Amino acid sequence: MRTDTGQVFKLEDYRPSDYLIERTNLVFRLDAERTEVVAELAVRRRNGVSDDAPLILDGDGLDLAGLEIDGIAANANAYTAAPDQLTIHAVPADRQFRLKIVTRLSPDTNKALMGLYRSNGVYCTQCEAEGFRRITYFLDRPDILSVYSVRIEADRDAAPLMLSNGNPGKRSDLPDGRHFAEWHDPHPKPSYLFALVAGDLGVVRDTFRTMTGRKVDLAIHVEHGKEARAAYAMDALKRSMAWDEEKFGREYDLEVFNIVAVSDFNMGAMENKGLNIFNDKYVLADEDTATDADFANIEAIIAHEYFHNWTGNRITCRDWFQLCLKEGLTVYRDHEFSADQRSRAVKRIAEVRTLRAHQFPEDQGPLAHPVRPRRYREINNFYTATVYEKGSEVVRMIRTILGGELFRKGMDLYFKRHDGEAATVEDFLRVFEDVSRRDLSQFALWYHQAGTPHLAVDARYSTSERALTLTIEQSVPPTPGESRKRLMHIPLAFGLVGSDGKDLDWSAVEGATVSDGVIDVRKRRHTVRFEGVEERPCLSLNREFSAPITISAEETEEDRLFLARHDSDLFSRWQALNTLMTDALIAASGKVRGGRAPQMPGKLIALCGEIAGSHELEPAYRALALTLPSETDIAREIGSDIDPDAILAARNALAAAIGKENGAAFARLYDELADTGAFSPDAASAGKRALRNVLLDYLAAAGDAERADAQFRAATNMTERAAALGVLANRHPGSPQTLAALTAFEERYRGDPLVLDKWFTIQAVVPGHETLDTVRALTKHPAFQFANPNRVRALIGAFSSANQTGFHRPDGESYRYFADIVLEIERGNPQLAARLATTLRSWRQLEPGRRALARETLQRIASAEGLSADLRDIVERTLA
Ligand code: TRP
Ligand code: ZN
Repeated sequence: MRTDTGQVFKLEDYRPSDYLIERTNLVFRLDAERTEVVAELAVRRRNGVSDDAPLILDGDGLDLAGLEIDGIAANANAYTAAPDQLTIHAVPADRQFRLKIVTRLSPDTNKALMGLYRSNGVYCTQCEAEGFRRITYFLDRPDILSVYSVRIEADRDAAPLMLSNGNPGKRSDLPDGRHFAEWHDPHPKPSYLFALVAGDLGVVRDTFRTMTGRKVDLAIHVEHGKEARAAYAMDALKRSMAWDEEKFGREYDLEVFNIVAVSDFNMGAMENKGLNIFNDKYVLADEDTATDADFANIEAIIAHEYFHNWTGNRITCRDWFQLCLKEGLTVYRDHEFSADQRSRAVKRIAEVRTLRAHQFPEDQGPLAHPVRPRRYREINNFYTATVYEKGSEVVRMIRTILGGELFRKGMDLYFKRHDGEAATVEDFLRVFEDVSRRDLSQFALWYHQAGTPHLAVDARYSTSERALTLTIEQSVPPTPGESRKRLMHIPLAFGLVGSDGKDLDWSAVEGATVSDGVIDVRKRRHTVRFEGVEERPCLSLNREFSAPITISAEETEEDRLFLARHDSDLFSRWQALNTLMTDALIAASGKVRGGRAPQMPGKLIALCGEIAGSHELEPAYRALALTLPSETDIAREIGSDIDPDAILAARNALAAAIGKENGAAFARLYDELADTGAFSPDAASAGKRALRNVLLDYLAAAGDAERADAQFRAATNMTERAAALGVLANRHPGSPQTLAALTAFEERYRGDPLVLDKWFTIQAVVPGHETLDTVRALTKHPAFQFANPNRVRALIGAFSSANQTGFHRPDGESYRYFADIVLEIERGNPQLAARLATTLRSWRQLEPGRRALARETLQRIASAEGLSADLRDIVERTLA
């Protein structure tokens, strides 16, 4: 485990290294317990650096087994070797010299899943962010770009497959049943993009013809017997390659592209040059084992990692403070890809739901940080929703402000100007300033300042003057370490909706720059006056969610009902309905808490029935529109003194009322939507299944268990099966049908842990205080493993983040259990433990009893002995 030095890394401390590593030759002699790594580095002293400057290489838990400088064994007093550092004091006087470093590793005992480890018998590596230093001593920082040549030696039977970055070279047998393979990557790259895979896997192959006619050999490597489940990922890969050529002019740049699926992985996937390594959850799918959501995730993540080849690999980051430069931009690109492949409106709503569910709580809690942080203790903890999702929103805003054409020009310039470089956020912003001649310095605050900006909007319409006056006031709430905020540049898309549902025109505007339906908000307060407005409009604000902000406006229920029916912007139409639902749920939970019966909103309930049957809206959209805000969404909107039990009761009551009032219509529609014909994972088919499953849930909330039971038993695909099982477990926990369905699912999939994860999650999120006992029992299931991140996230992660009533038990039992588990997991995998612990970040919003218990839990974790840097960083910031 990485020792916590307590060191804080600061952006302003960046300086170029004294030495460069121009070429890196690696030999791996693979062995489960004793792998030998020989690294030969061609080092060059930078111009102007004196020859007595020591060369200090990073390590992490390394054991030096040999060191040569320019071919001669190094003198003992020429260097100091420690597990975390190799210092060469006496460096040759020549500006260029060669270092040969030998280290020995034990892949089998590496449970942190960083560096070289084995997953199901397959050797694999994970080097981002600082895992390469667990393999050999190196300048392990993203601005050191080196050309890599790799030779892998392994047992022929255990590892017929041997992969690394770049293009394949020689391959031949060795004595003693071993063999070797050589790889060469012509593109200089940072060490975090290095990868190696060796093992015995099945493969799916295909080819792609690039825009200039070059042939690329594509391969996806998966466990034997699962090849058929990689077909969708392969299809998504080819579509991604074609899309990047078409939309960004980006062509692939190697002869081969390999993807490997492994079952033990800390994150979703990794963009290693020419050798993407994936969590198998984001590769394997067929109708029997994967839901439509799984298919959509696979498509998005395959695209994301592929797109990194240009945004991340060809142009990488100068330092880890610039992480959003590759991540935010690449998320933006994968969002656009999915929007083009599926439905743009549906995709946008899904993105905003994700942003609000994961990024808003981060921005509004103790872990808030800017999209480009200025300091960190543990970089692993900065792979956050803020860097990824808000980072993507910032790129999207640049496009909104500049328009599509200038945005593309800016991207072209970025690729041209910075190809082969390690760049910064400033470099990125400058290309857009250069192509547009606009000043983006105020806009740049989106990168530098944490917190979710708020706009308070007030509208006055004068019938006599036919003028609308908007007062827009901006504020940015304080965040840890940033009490005073500067004014931001917020692109606010809007529409003035007339009584016929169409947008009204205006003849003149003053008080702000308005173009293409977007108000440039830059000052604390704008008074924007529109003239020539024929009637009092309904205000549609932040259309398409043009900026990641919160808004308050004095809107009547009638306005919202009107927008929910008529707004021409489908996102805003969804937003109007969602706000109505949220307000109704907040009111109802207040009533429940006060011991009174909640009042049910008749007009909203009727509107739900209307929307369900609006055939001019695509089914996927109707499914999203009808989905009630989650318990976590409601808690976030309430903001303080949270009582999860009252929220659950309110939500159940509203769901039951919607299901009951619209029962006959929902049932009819449910039957109409029944899947006929062959399964297809396409967006339209998935949309129908989604709508049908939402209706199923409402009907069950209103008391009908039969339909869910019937759907479960008749299901011909996992989307129907898992949804039915979830509805049974949530709406009818403990019923004979539910117990029978759970047993049937377990029997069918017990040999396939990845599929069984759905079964773990469904049970972990069953509301109620007793679920803790279920979770405890499920950790004893033969398929459950604390060492596997997917299992842990499916059971413990789901319980702690998606089961508000179960996790926040008023007696604190779940917190105590959770702390024990986090501390247990952190002994093997600190990164996973730290990520789990972030579910406690919103503890201050709980009612006083739970708040005190949550704080105690955090304090207990914080005071545990020998805490990793990862977990210490999270708990200390959460408590601060
Ligand atoms: N760069 C990866 C991505 O965006 C993220 C990632 C994968 C990662 N594995 C990791 C980050 C391990 C930190 C540690 O897709
Ligand atoms: Zn990424």
